[in-house]
Amino acid sequence: MGRQVELALLDELLGEARAGEPVTVLICGEAGAGKTRLVTEVTAAARGRGTRALVGSCTAVGRWSFAFAPFVEALRPVIRELAISGGGSGRPVGPGLTRLMPVPGGGAAGRDPPDPGPFGVSPQLRLFEEVLDTLERAAVPAGLLLVIEDLHWADPSSRGLFEFLSRNLRSAAVALVGTVRTDEPDDGGFLEWLAEVQRGPRAVRMELERFCREELADLVAGVLGHPPSAELAGRVYERSGGNAFLAEELLAAGERGVLVPSTVGSPVLARMAGVSMSARGLLRLAAVAGVRVGHGLLAAASGLGDDALLAAARELAENHLLVADASGDGYVFRHALTREAVYDDLLPGERQQLHRAVARVLRDEPALGPPAPWAVAEALAEHWFAAGDLEDALAASVGAGNAAREVVAVAAALDHYQRALDLWDRVTDPETVAGIGRPVLLESAAEVASGAGEHERAMRYVDDAIGELEHTAAAPIQIGLLYERKAWYLSWAGRMGEFAEWTGRAVALVPSEPPTPERAHVLAAHAHALTVGQRRYEEASRVAAGALDAARAAGARRDEARAHTVLGVCLVMTSTDPEAGIRQFDQALAIGREIGDAGEAALASFLLTDALIRLGRLDDAAATGFEAAHIGVQSGALRNEVGLSLFNAAEALFLAGRWDDCEQALEQVRDQRAGGIVELWGLALFALLQASRGRDEAAAAAMADAATLGVVQPDGEGMLRAAQAQIALHQGELDAAHRAALDGLDTVAGSESEPGMATTVTLVELALRIEADRAQVARARHDPAGEQGAVESTRTVAVRTPAVRVRSAAAAQRPEVTRAHRALADAEVGRAEGRSEPDAWRSAAGAGAGQGAPQRTAYARFREAEAVLASRGDRARAIDALAAAHAAARELGADPLGREIDALARRARIELTDEPLPATPPAPAERGLATLGLTSRELEVLRLLAAGYTNPQIGEALYISRKTASHHVSSVLSKLGVTTRVEAAGVAHQLGVTPDTTAPK
Ligand SMILES: Nc1ncnc2c1ncn2[C@@H]1O[C@H](COP(=O)(O)OP(=O)(O)OP(=O)(O)O)[C@@H](O)[C@H]1O
Ligand SMILES: [Mg+2]
Repeated sequence: MGRQVELALLDELLGEARAGEPVTVLICGEAGAGKTRLVTEVTAAARGRGTRALVGSCTAVGRWSFAFAPFVEALRPVIRELAISGGGSGRPVGPGLTRLMPVPGGGAAGRDPPDPGPFGVSPQLRLFEEVLDTLERAAVPAGLLLVIEDLHWADPSSRGLFEFLSRNLRSAAVALVGTVRTDEPDDGGFLEWLAEVQRGPRAVRMELERFCREELADLVAGVLGHPPSAELAGRVYERSGGNAFLAEELLAAGERGVLVPSTVGSPVLARMAGVSMSARGLLRLAAVAGVRVGHGLLAAASGLGDDALLAAARELAENHLLVADASGDGYVFRHALTREAVYDDLLPGERQQLHRAVARVLRDEPALGPPAPWAVAEALAEHWFAAGDLEDALAASVGAGNAAREVVAVAAALDHYQRALDLWDRVTDPETVAGIGRPVLLESAAEVASGAGEHERAMRYVDDAIGELEHTAAAPIQIGLLYERKAWYLSWAGRMGEFAEWTGRAVALVPSEPPTPERAHVLAAHAHALTVGQRRYEEASRVAAGALDAARAAGARRDEARAHTVLGVCLVMTSTDPEAGIRQFDQALAIGREIGDAGEAALASFLLTDALIRLGRLDDAAATGFEAAHIGVQSGALRNEVGLSLFNAAEALFLAGRWDDCEQALEQVRDQRAGGIVELWGLALFALLQASRGRDEAAAAAMADAATLGVVQPDGEGMLRAAQAQIALHQGELDAAHRAALDGLDTVAGSESEPGMATTVTLVELALRIEADRAQVARARHDPAGEQGAVESTRTVAVRTPAVRVRSAAAAQRPEVTRAHRALADAEVGRAEGRSEPDAWRSAAGAGAGQGAPQRTAYARFREAEAVLASRGDRARAIDALAAAHAAARELGADPLGREIDALARRARIELTDEPLPATPPAPAERGLATLGLTSRELEVLRLLAAGYTNPQIGEALYISRKTASHHVSSVLSKLGVTTRVEAAGVAHQLGVTPDTTAPK
């Protein structure tokens, strides 16, 4: 066997996979290099260790394998098992997989259009996730090895799935191994695809070199059963060039004394020349039919009687050309290369004739073909095409596209439709041949293109269809529906600006009387587009009402649900009657569930959660989010959809100040490993939450994780910048905090996303606070220019942000929230300008208890206490405010704010009933200070000294007179044995005393 280095490397990689670090290994090498042999060895070793190993191959018929062929082959045993046992989790096998592999008890699932739904997630993604899920389940408990052989022949859908799995298998004990021939012509962007897979996070490419002289001698010994003579070993090495397949073939031929020049095919052909005429004919037919071919098919296509066929087959087996396959019901080539050599040797006319013979059999007796119905349709298309029978090829390509589409093999379907379109003009009367008009074919092509993520291409098809129909007397309904399609393609391609324009055209074209399902459909789409793309709520509301009427009259349930959802959004956003809005959502949800439309229900519950957040009904919002996630998990929703629902819940909990619950919800979001934006949001909010609690390391780790996702999105970015600003603030790096906060604001302010991210309000408040801090510091440093700049900046943030806040709070229907936000901004501007305004802070905290977000209330009450103390106001009020702030910060777990509150309490000699939190990171060196005999008051003075405070500033910071302050300062100097303040600061630094910069100067 040899290959020790490769085997050792694979063993190591598979070990990592078993430990929960999935890997993708691409084993690359020329034809016959020994890739299959190597993976066979590895598979056996893995099985020996108890690891489950699944193998599927891509065997080309025509250009490539049948849609999903390698995965159907590899997964079949697992699916059977899961269908019977439920895999312990009680979850059924998903509908996508059930379509690919009918299982006992698996009902036929409803068929959705293949392109992305209102949520932008396609059935293809759903299917891919089902596969991912199945593999993760099969990997428990002993790990899983999935081998996909001969990726160079993988159909477009299998390629997509392989790449998806290699990117999305995370922390599951799965190793994904693919073999790749490197000397095949690059066909259909294969090399580009391979490069993309290789770039993936945990992908390794392994090159299988040719054997060296010694290794090849071992191989020869293995074949012969004894060590070869040096002369024979040398000759085989020279001729084979170290290629394993060729060496074997040369040896097989050599026994007959024929050592022919060395190309991969030549020994095969030499051997073929030695068999009888009828055996040769059968071999040629088999080469056309495929690597594996059934007895029945060969018999029907060759016209040979059973006896003659068996005799010929026996002869071929004796000559190492064709052998009986494992099922006993068919034949398989000794090696794929054997088939290729025979096939390549056929004359063009001969080849066409044989393809025609196979096609006829498949047409008349499909049961003789491959076991899956779509595979038969695809084979038929390939054989007719290769036979040069263009009419049959056109009809069969349309059939193959339809069949592939049924099993959500959209990329493969696209390929067949494209071929049908290419054939269209080469056939007389294509409409009759294909059984459909060209616009219908184009529409199908557009749908599957979009389903495969190629939205721009989908748009070209649909434009083409529209162009054809506009020149005919086609029904306006037909054209209107194409306009509507186009609108969605535009939206999925990210061209939101044009979305409502095209839904509008569709509405203009589809007659309103009588109320048809089509009318309801375009109206619902238009209403949706007006909200999502344009935020034209008044107009959307009118259109949605019309859609509702039409949908009810025409019995279009899905569009009825959509109309309710859009009405819900409009009522909440325009706040004409928010409660009625909520009822609209409930109706949409009820219909969605009734008709079993997971996508429609997901859309409604997503927008409902958002509406509840806007309405300040945070607990309801969280409950709705959790419920949607729960239902989603049960109904096989995408990780993305479940993750989004959980994130919505987490966001509501964050705003509600239920931070422990929020943390748990965010962990659930992370467990979904949804990838993309949802995972980014989850990590970003996690970072913000941790930073708000003073757990800066955990926050930084989440930020680093977010960065590795490689996804950039304004709202996520905004939360990350907020976390970063908080961390900088905790470290006393005001300038860095300033940059992070303002960057974050720029990002979210420019964001078009709708509905907005409610947490952006946190960023706004943080930015205000940081700018006001900067103004204070500049003033203390006698830096009028800096002060002026920071004051201006505070004002700018205050006026620039209403738009952002409007997105996040229910502006009109909750005036008290808006007022509190406004008041906070005013109070921060006042603080920046050097005013102490207890009442402004009081209104920012919210009128009554429990009003507004808890973190804002805690912060504002803290500032209220500070302002009362600074203006030498009513001490009882200061105590009251500080105690309230303290309790609120405690409850939240907002440690950084808690420390600021403690520090203020200490300076002002206010006793807070609770134990104070440990002062800013407890520096061990500080404990040594006790031996210097400093009182706790003197330590505070030293901290302020170290931060550069003057005596009067120390007095103000500690709410004591200037005289008392200077008394404390002299005492500190003498205890430290120094004479100047600068020396004292130096000693403080050496002792590790943390300067106190939190006090106002
Ligand atoms: N390490 C080895 N020891 C002994 N025999 C080997 C070794 N590697 C390959 N062979 C033999 O050489 C022949 C070709 O090898 P294999 O089928 O693994 O090549 P491959 O790279 O998979 O080719 P293809 O690209 O056609 O799939 C096989 O018959 C195999 O048994
Ligand atoms: Mg192989």
